[in-house]
Amino acid sequence: MEIIFATNNAHKLEEVRSVLGAKFKVLSLSDIGCNVEVEETSDTFEGNALLKAQYVYEQYNMPCFSDDSGLEVDVLFNAPGVYSARYGGEHGNHEKNMDKLLNSLMGQSNRKARFRTVLCYLNEVGEVHYFNGVVNGIILSKKQGAAGFGYDPLFLPHGHNLTFAQMTPEAKNKISHRALAVNELLNFLQP
Ligand code: IMP
Repeated sequence: MEIIFATNNAHKLEEVRSVLGAKFKVLSLSDIGCNVEVEETSDTFEGNALLKAQYVYEQYNMPCFSDDSGLEVDVLFNAPGVYSARYGGEHGNHEKNMDKLLNSLMGQSNRKARFRTVLCYLNEVGEVHYFNGVVNGIILSKKQGAAGFGYDPLFLPHGHNLTFAQMTPEAKNKISHRALAVNELLNFLQP
């Protein structure tokens, strides 16, 4: 079965294909010739994931899913949350985002945080289903590691001694918030 993942983010695609790839042909937006960037105008993960998946479903009339993810930090009242990609003022500038996060947490001893993914799936007839994935951890005071993307160098997942950016993609893909949500989707599609 073919299923569209409404993204062109190579890291996400690789993560998702490592979970779904054996059973589904996962097509990215560029695979289907869609180069529209759907604006994430909602202030919830659910809302943004729905906007992207719905747009693609309406255009291509095929089962598709989209994810919206972000980092929630306890002492920042769950910021940056849905604004994770542009926290530092420039969309997708990971260095600026991490620097702002480090500044915001300067002197803070409570560094608890979590990555959250909400995945929105529209089936053949456009029915909407949501799946969630959460990974708890802490924000370090220094960047460590060079793999991955986003806040990976600052995030130490609970129960591990390597940041997401120090792990191999395979190791991160086993425990990541996105992998958890995609596994939920897989269980739903193939109970
Ligand atoms: P998106 O909306 O799912 O693309 O994620 C928004 C932002 O959250 C990204 O630009 C990253 O800053 C952050 N983020 C989401 N997932 C991850 C992850 O696995 N590692 C690091 N940062 C992430």
